[in-house]
Amino acid sequence: MNQIFDLLLFLLPIYISNSIPVVLGGGVPLDFGITLSDGERLFGKGKTVRGFLAGIFGGSMFGGIVAIFYQLPFFSTPTIQFAAAFVLAFATMFGDAFGSFLKRRLHMDSGRPFILDTVLFLLVSLIFVFPLASIGLYDVGNILFFLILTLILHPLTNMLANKAGLKNVPW
Ligand code: CTP
Ligand code: MG
Repeated sequence: MNQIFDLLLFLLPIYISNSIPVVLGGGVPLDFGITLSDGERLFGKGKTVRGFLAGIFGGSMFGGIVAIFYQLPFFSTPTIQFAAAFVLAFATMFGDAFGSFLKRRLHMDSGRPFILDTVLFLLVSLIFVFPLASIGLYDVGNILFFLILTLILHPLTNMLANKAGLKNVPW
């Protein structure tokens, strides 16, 4: 397992991407209102273009700034780490939208809690960044740390966002 500080710095841009849409989302839906043959929306009303783009932008910016100032052990050069910041931010928002896609196929309403909401964005990020990352990133201890921290922080931050009036539901 790598140092906690490095693991947290790796996760932070992912968490930032995932959180930004709650604050900055709204407007045109990401699926442009498309309904599939099962009668459900492609992604639903909880995913918007602005939220998607703001999440990618915010996470890339943060990860990009980290890449300038601090070399993470998971990437061989600062340039690769810089590219990875964008890949991770994109993957996070892609995973988030993919989770909604799955929920709609299961006929679950937007905003309903779903176990994959908690970790899918993290799993997709880890998969998408594979071509850029060193194999050490996928150390069992690292993966367990990522999963456990995310399983704790995701419900906690959603509850706080609900209390702060940012989210309608506490999950
Ligand atoms: N959001 C957004 N654009 C995104 C993702 C999220 O605008 N790409 C905003 C929406 O206002 C959304 C809120 O962030 O309602 C919370 O996001 P999330 O919990 O991921 O979506 P849900 O509303 O729960 O929708 P779903 O059931 O499809 O996950
Ligand atoms: Mg939700």
